Amino acid sequence: MSRRTKEILAKMTLDDKIYHLEQITTATYLTKGSTYKVITGPNSKLKLDKEMIYDIGTSLNLVGAETMIDALTNYLDKSKSKRPPVFMQDVIHGHRTLYPINLAVAASFDRELARELASMAAKEASLDGVGVTFAPMVDLVRDPRWGRVMESSGEDPYMNSEMAKATVRGFQGDMGKYNLAACVKHFAAYGAAEAGRDYNTVDVSERTLREYYLPAYKAAVDAGVKMLMAAFNIVDGVPCVGNKHLMKDILRDEWGFDGVVISDYGAVEEMIVHGACEDKKEAALRAIEAECDIEMMSSCYAEHLRALIDEGKVTEEQIDKSVLRILDLKESLGILDNPYRSVNVEESKRVQLSPEHRALARKGAEQSAVLLKNDGVLPFSKNVSSVALIGPLASTGKIHGSWHCGGRAEETVSVYEGLSKLLGDRVKYAPGCYVEYNSEDESLFDEAVELAKSSECVVLCLGEHQDYSGEANCRADIELPEIQYKLLDKILEVNKNVAVALFTGRPLAISRLHNTAPAILNMWMPGTEGGNACANLLFGNAVPSGKITMTFPRALGQCPIYYNHYTTGRPKLLKDDLNRVLYTSSYIDVPNSPLYPFGYGLSYTTFEYSDMSLSAAVMKSDEKIVASAKIKNTGGHKGKEAVQLYIRDVKGSCVRPVKELKGFEKIELDVGEEATVSFEITEPMLRYWNQKLEHVSEKGEFEVFIGKDSTCVPFAKFELI
Ligand code: NOJ
Repeated sequence: MSRRTKEILAKMTLDDKIYHLEQITTATYLTKGSTYKVITGPNSKLKLDKEMIYDIGTSLNLVGAETMIDALTNYLDKSKSKRPPVFMQDVIHGHRTLYPINLAVAASFDRELARELASMAAKEASLDGVGVTFAPMVDLVRDPRWGRVMESSGEDPYMNSEMAKATVRGFQGDMGKYNLAACVKHFAAYGAAEAGRDYNTVDVSERTLREYYLPAYKAAVDAGVKMLMAAFNIVDGVPCVGNKHLMKDILRDEWGFDGVVISDYGAVEEMIVHGACEDKKEAALRAIEAECDIEMMSSCYAEHLRALIDEGKVTEEQIDKSVLRILDLKESLGILDNPYRSVNVEESKRVQLSPEHRALARKGAEQSAVLLKNDGVLPFSKNVSSVALIGPLASTGKIHGSWHCGGRAEETVSVYEGLSKLLGDRVKYAPGCYVEYNSEDESLFDEAVELAKSSECVVLCLGEHQDYSGEANCRADIELPEIQYKLLDKILEVNKNVAVALFTGRPLAISRLHNTAPAILNMWMPGTEGGNACANLLFGNAVPSGKITMTFPRALGQCPIYYNHYTTGRPKLLKDDLNRVLYTSSYIDVPNSPLYPFGYGLSYTTFEYSDMSLSAAVMKSDEKIVASAKIKNTGGHKGKEAVQLYIRDVKGSCVRPVKELKGFEKIELDVGEEATVSFEITEPMLRYWNQKLEHVSEKGEFEVFIGKDSTCVPFAKFELI
């Protein structure tokens, strides 16, 4: 807390302070073209004083330098205090230049890339006047039905933590003019929504919470994240935003987080709908007691905090603490000196979508695409005489992904544009079918089949509409639509030289596609440069190196499915996976194993792992041991490989996962080149949360694995003594 912010606080009236804790939409302040005035739109349900809204501390969601300047000028003009607000925005996977969805970025297994991409987004957003991004979202996810898996980095706490740190560093940098304050979300365990249905119940034990769900939020806090968002869901029966154990005992006291906590959209008032609070007054009390500093889009604080103070249920010191945190955030953003901060109409036009930013977004898309299958058709030759480009996602810019912030479909390179740029008029396009999941319309088939028949190779763009993932976009069926399979079958009847480019915001259950398509390149939702990246990958200008960080099931019925599960007393063994073995933990109709396991992804080249070694077979808790492997590029292309380290705690006082990711390195090797990758193993890496909720390591045996994906087998053991 600085002297300056304390001085500002000292001059604020109680009403001023209370209004400082509210957040409403930025569009409220527009003088031009706004449809969201305070009395209409989402603000209409808020009971806010029409004059006091010009003294609200923060606002959310609006893109564009000119609109920000308009809103801010109007705000300052009408504000009594003249205290500048902070503009907050969901800058999730890029601002105007979109990079691939976050689940894809994680698949790059490249921390530096994640940092660079976030830093690019911060620069573009800061030039539009944004001060805070509601990112990174680090919720651990195991259910692909949930639409928001696209924003997450997947099912592994270590990967999520590494991506959380890299992204926070990218956004925040040294908090210079081109940086943003980051807001890690959704605290906590929002990704555990039952049945993959958004906003649904979460029910996890505190041990599971600490083992799997909390590490990534903690990693963001340790990386210096400025803000944190309390989730919509309940944890242990209590909505997060009013959950004192979570928000105070763990976040503030145990982790020492002293940044700003914001509720999710309307979440304070929603405690009433949850049945956790009687009315708005109780909701305000519960949230402020849990030290939720900012109430986003409900007005419980504005309506009731004063009365709660008068009744002695809340103290003014509690309010002061929250106000000071917000003022400190403003100070760190520099807006106490310059309310307009970095907003710059001209510079934003130069920087946003600049060739450098497009190149970085393209690199992001190339590095995060995952080659799921290749019977040898890919890469296609650039000397190909004719290409049939077919599919409902082949000629659309709507592949940039949900949460597109300032990004636009018309600025996104479609696959058709990308391929045409590379191959000119050798590329011909036919849509083949419609993208809607329930479409049964086969009227476009004939044209597509004719085109496939007369072409040397076929690029078939299948998958789901970008709006089928993201907030509130959950699916109970994660197969490809039947119409897309029918189209594929028809095309294979006339041309076998087919590669599927898959567009998706989630893992799909695509066993049938795997069994029929000669090659599958998962492009995810690749962002603004998706079409160029796809063309480069399909035709060998770039070599796929992404590996999935969320398991692809064989069938939806296997979900939730994740690699780092516990063993059971009756496990089905890997060697028996394809057979039915009675009285083991298994299904009658589908093996236990996934279609594609965590960490999996192919390349155009091949990598051979050898000479695995462990520096010692015994480790004391203050010692380090080193696990190493040689990796050789044995194929015909220069390529990158994500080398993964897993450890298994063989026996614990609590049952331990079958293996856990503990390290990864992405290396690039020329044809024939060899490198040694080494990982240090230390005692803190072996700790876990035991039944007494102590974070401890236990003496005994540990298995070590190094490999290309999570199916790798142990090569050595050591004993912790
Ligand atoms: C609700 C979403 O859950 C959250 O992630 C987002 O930041 C807010 N809305 C603000 O848009």
